[in-house]
Amino acid sequence: MDPKQKLYPTAFNPLLIKPSRPLPIEIAIIGAGTIGPDIRYYLKSALPSIKLYLVDIAEEPLKNAESRIIGYTEKAVDKKKMKADKAAAVRENIVYTTDYGQIKGCELVIEAATEDIPLKQKIFDSIEKIVRDDTIITSNTSSIPADRLFSKMKKPERTTVTHFFAPAWRSLPVEVIVWDRGSRETLDYLFWFFAETGKVPIIADNAICFVLDRVFDNWCNEAAYLLNQATASQIDKVAESFVFAGPFFVLNLANGNPIIIETNTLQMEEGSHYQPAPILASVDRWLTHRPGASVAVPEELSNVVKDRLLAILFSQSFDIIDRGIGTKEDLNLGCQIALGFRKGPFDIMRDLGEAEVNRVMEKFQKERPGFPMPTKPLKEYQDFRRFIVVDEMDDVKIITLRRPQALNALNDRMTDEILAVFKEDIDNPAVAGFIITGYGSTAFSAGADIGKFPEMLGNKEASIQFAKDCAKVQLFMDQMEKPVVAALNGMALGGGLEIAIRCHSMVASRHATLQFPEISLGILPAIGGCVVPYRKWPQGAKRFHDMICFGKPITAQEAFEIGMISEMADDYPSLIRLAVEEVHRLQGKIPRIPEKKIDIPEITIPEQALAPQGKLSNKAISITVKTIQQSAAAENLMDALEIGYQGFGEIACTAAAKEGVSAFLEKRKPAFKK
Ligand code: COA
Repeated sequence: MDPKQKLYPTAFNPLLIKPSRPLPIEIAIIGAGTIGPDIRYYLKSALPSIKLYLVDIAEEPLKNAESRIIGYTEKAVDKKKMKADKAAAVRENIVYTTDYGQIKGCELVIEAATEDIPLKQKIFDSIEKIVRDDTIITSNTSSIPADRLFSKMKKPERTTVTHFFAPAWRSLPVEVIVWDRGSRETLDYLFWFFAETGKVPIIADNAICFVLDRVFDNWCNEAAYLLNQATASQIDKVAESFVFAGPFFVLNLANGNPIIIETNTLQMEEGSHYQPAPILASVDRWLTHRPGASVAVPEELSNVVKDRLLAILFSQSFDIIDRGIGTKEDLNLGCQIALGFRKGPFDIMRDLGEAEVNRVMEKFQKERPGFPMPTKPLKEYQDFRRFIVVDEMDDVKIITLRRPQALNALNDRMTDEILAVFKEDIDNPAVAGFIITGYGSTAFSAGADIGKFPEMLGNKEASIQFAKDCAKVQLFMDQMEKPVVAALNGMALGGGLEIAIRCHSMVASRHATLQFPEISLGILPAIGGCVVPYRKWPQGAKRFHDMICFGKPITAQEAFEIGMISEMADDYPSLIRLAVEEVHRLQGKIPRIPEKKIDIPEITIPEQALAPQGKLSNKAISITVKTIQQSAAAENLMDALEIGYQGFGEIACTAAAKEGVSAFLEKRKPAFKK
């Protein structure tokens, strides 16, 4: 069977799944060590009204867990990430107990005790005797295959492994393991459940260490083997070109040496090359630096360390894909969002080029024989989409923007991938049209990738070219004969909203919001944002003035009232269903953006303009107003769009743009001078 089909039998976007049961009302977590209480905090933050049981055999960790949640919620309130009433609800309704009998009403039980197979089996045996027949039971093991934990259970079909990453309350991914006696219903439900509660579930096959820990454990183990040539601090420094924190720093944080010994011993079933480095058993803490500190590493030594670290990363990546343990998409993304890699392993390989990857691997084969090598030409490990997933519903292709670490912000590769999907099926009679939606329920897309802006700010021509390059998808949609419908599952901001408004219709979840926050960055929406709304929905012109010039958001309801949104939905599956209907309704009736010039109401600029984010730059506003007015007066759409690109070129050279973009990237409020 195609490994992708085996891992994702129902959908790649988990929220397309219609769950077989509602969200749980009572959940239990077994184990109050480190990760159990963190899973509790994530669950209570996502679902504050649930009743949660935290169970342990000892009182002490339960007491610690109780005080830990107070610290977490206070910090979240201080940082304005959580309101005080929600923080109170998060802390309430948690039962800290040593009595398993209390969890009998739970619909979901997650075990997070120590990595000891007989102990875990005993725990599952006790749980099964207490809970209902349909309670889902999972283990948070990072390495033990599901069959070794659950085969002896009376109802293994409702069990599997759900593996979180530290810190479990914040780290996005959760591996959900597919195994032969776990039912598809359980798998689908958990896949949906984690996405619904804000995580990024990744489905992995039932191999020792699954997907991401095969990478992490061997990365750390290889670093330990390198200690005969370099210090821990030198190795961490070299690793920092690829990860935000080096292996020894992370091992110190997680008290991880015993874990690597355990997991690599388990992997030795696949060959003695996985043997844990002996030094791991004799060291408690590594002498290393905080990430980013300067550490001198001689070039020759740096190359030796780099080659070995890359080789182990690549070796594991090839093996995971060749054995169908995970998909290229998930491995590449998961390494970034779970393990802190700056780029996914396949992106690193692409940047290095085939000859260099081959050199590194051949050298590794000699130094560390036995490790998996690539089994096919390297380019075959590169043919996957990094930033979108594509599903089908009836005769409609659903494109989901998946860049959860940046609220699905767009980059040029993502827009290229969208365009490629359109082009692939443009003449396919079996495809009636397309839907674009966002991964998760928070964001459709938080706009263009702000991290890219500093490259062109201050350079008018480069900025104009950037805007034009970004416009490829929009210009293509303007000409398409097959409808494209935007399904706004959450906030649609800036460049994200500029894609959505160019689709031939928009439907939205009731909680979605629409906003052009560019002015708070000292720039303007350049890819039709100053043009298209006025031409498509002239009745909303005054609202658009407020949105574009002052960054005011509007709700889905307000957008519906102006006519921007055709239908609103209460949940994700209904949103997609409405979008599919909209694709069918628009067959042969795609509305085109009016070409002619339009009259717009006057725009009044207050002496000191304010946005939700603070004071704005009047200089930036005046360029924005001029751009809106001149493009409204343009005799055709292409001229109007060109005025938008030029306006961006002008605004990108202002001090306001420099300050606004720097402030965002430095995570501070902008201080505009003019
Ligand atoms: N480009 C690049 N990264 C973005 C982004 C964008 N447009 N929008 C959000 N992100 C990133 C953040 O930098 C953050 O990354 P980090 O975790 O590595 O720091 C991550 O997405 C989550 O965003 P965060 O700001 O922590 O979430 P929040 O819930 O506190 O705030 C927003 C959400 C949308 C209000 C805030 O992210 C924002 O203002 N984004 C910029 C929106 C914008 O101006 N878009 C127009 C650009 S054309």
